[in-house]
Amino acid sequence: MTQPPPILQTLGTQMLFGGDYNPEQWSEDRWQEDVLHMKEAGVNLVSVAIFGWAKLEPRDGQYEFDWLDRVLNLLHEHDIMVNLATGTASPPAWLVKQHPEMLPMTRDGVRLGFGSRQHYSPASPIYREKAAKLVRKLAERYGKHPAVKMWHINNEYGCHISECFSPETTAAFRNWLKNRYTTLEELNRVWGTAFWSQAYYNWDEIEAPKAMPGFYNPTHYLDWRRFSSTMMQECLQMEIDILREVTPHLPVNTNFLSVAKNLDQRALAQLEDIVSMDIYPDPERKDAHLEAALQADWTRSLRDGQPWILMEQAPNQVQWRGVNRIKKAGQMRLISYSMIARGARGILYFQWRQSVSGSEKYHSGMLPHTGTCSRTWQEIRQLGQELKNLPELSYAPQTQVAIVLDWDSWQALEQESHPHTGLSLIGQIASFYQALSRRNIRVDFVTSEHDLSLYPLVFLPSTPLLTKASCQNLKKYVEDGGTLVHSYFSGITNEHDHIHTGTEQGSYNPHLNEVLGIKILEFDPQAPSTVLHLDHGWKASDWVDVLRLNTATPVATLQGGDHAGQPALTCNLYGKGHAYHLGVQLDQNSMQEFTDQLLSQCGLSAPLDVPEGVEVIGWKDGTLFILNPTSETHTIALPESMTSLLSGQATTSLLLPPMDVAVLQPQTQPSPVLL
Ligand code: GLA
Repeated sequence: MTQPPPILQTLGTQMLFGGDYNPEQWSEDRWQEDVLHMKEAGVNLVSVAIFGWAKLEPRDGQYEFDWLDRVLNLLHEHDIMVNLATGTASPPAWLVKQHPEMLPMTRDGVRLGFGSRQHYSPASPIYREKAAKLVRKLAERYGKHPAVKMWHINNEYGCHISECFSPETTAAFRNWLKNRYTTLEELNRVWGTAFWSQAYYNWDEIEAPKAMPGFYNPTHYLDWRRFSSTMMQECLQMEIDILREVTPHLPVNTNFLSVAKNLDQRALAQLEDIVSMDIYPDPERKDAHLEAALQADWTRSLRDGQPWILMEQAPNQVQWRGVNRIKKAGQMRLISYSMIARGARGILYFQWRQSVSGSEKYHSGMLPHTGTCSRTWQEIRQLGQELKNLPELSYAPQTQVAIVLDWDSWQALEQESHPHTGLSLIGQIASFYQALSRRNIRVDFVTSEHDLSLYPLVFLPSTPLLTKASCQNLKKYVEDGGTLVHSYFSGITNEHDHIHTGTEQGSYNPHLNEVLGIKILEFDPQAPSTVLHLDHGWKASDWVDVLRLNTATPVATLQGGDHAGQPALTCNLYGKGHAYHLGVQLDQNSMQEFTDQLLSQCGLSAPLDVPEGVEVIGWKDGTLFILNPTSETHTIALPESMTSLLSGQATTSLLLPPMDVAVLQPQTQPSPVLL
């Protein structure tokens, strides 16, 4: 295995296994029992004191660390590593009482109260000051503690509060705008305030886009979203600066919450040493494993393929959906291996011991209310033991296709006052992802500015905001031989979300019309009930681009309706590559057939032929993960004799029951089996 970067060597090379440990919720006599059970389950890493601020600093400036000393010592005695939290996600009541101005305010002007968590505005100076003091105290006290191997900063930025409309935050917004635009003239130009008499003549006139009579100004809103994400980024940076100053030997990390629109996770990920994600697929969904898989591929992509940590998953059910189903027997294990197959080098949970009070008492824990007799415990224990026995792994999945996700454009896409307010970026991505997954083709997520040359096939979902530089990048990609699928409502606006100059020449995508070989003359969004029929028996919905073909040829044409005979999907040969334009939203079957055509044209195939529904993920070193999320047992023939890392047996074929998994390495592989 390639050695982890030096800073990550604190974590060793073993698979990390554990969860959030909240000893402050329990009397101390439980702690001893906890660590013994942790050992039994194979736990080697726990995240401690995530919500510990009130116990660490019960009064302003008075710190009580004795209890944490005892917890860390106990964990260390049992050889359990600690991912020590900075505790800043839930400020204590005394602080909020002293400084109610730090409480977040909603768009409607309602000040949110104390009694839950994340009750702070990320821009609040007093929050930042008090959080910084706590972080420094923790770093000074525990930086050299032998149990502490990593910092867990805050918790899920933006989980509950990702924007705040208070006067304090509005003042910070004005400063941010001054830095960005220097003059009001420039701000007025960029925001297009000549429209609806919105011109500003004084910085103090600018407000957050709070509840207002009609549509907001889209660039005002876009900048607000950028600002709000930047406030959380600044909080992260503030903590990282302190930790790197006091404890430069320890890696820093913050846990993200799923593919989130409210936070520019890619920007924040660049600040930390390793990315981590909390992934909670809904067991009610038949494709829960795919929901988790997409999140995992996204997470790995945040730092361009580096290994990452699954910081939280539910051992069984959660408590925060309307109806909270339990996981099926084996489902948690299967999803855990799916995460590892996608580059996770740690499998952790929320939380170690299930609470008996508080709003998460119905959320599962690794050690549930019903104790060690429970199915959940048995599954946790089995997985922990299995992972302990895995040899060192390379964590390098072989990917073949890229999906573009530009955070700025996501903000611009799903706005009010648009041709169609029902467009969903994640919905489009999920449709393509599902079609690829069904053929076991693996995906990276990239931005439109990335070097795309590694990927034979690139999918661009509706990406209205596309800078000229991004258009150039996509153009070069196709020119050099790539295959691009460019979806409707893309490339329409510049970085300020203004319609691109050049559109007046007759096309809505002036910077890509040559590559695509079409002009987009108009778009005609469709009512939710409208089903569009295409040739090949395909169906579509939501949108119709009215196109004029230049050099492109039609691949699918609309049948009947207002646009009968119009091309809905086109292909253009450009340079050495192919540029497809998808002018409608294909339904899943049609998307599958189109994807199958693309895969065959690009010569892409799965690493192994497996029955429908079985997942196979291949790594660059030849390791194969085979997962069976179906309800049937499958026999799978291997191309050569391979060694199972879970059973230790060499085999040329597998019998895989429902929810079972296999991890196989070619026999030439040097890694020994450790069972
Ligand atoms: C999030 C939080 C945890 C916990 C879980 C419950 O992921 O980080 O503290 O609330 O949700 O699912």
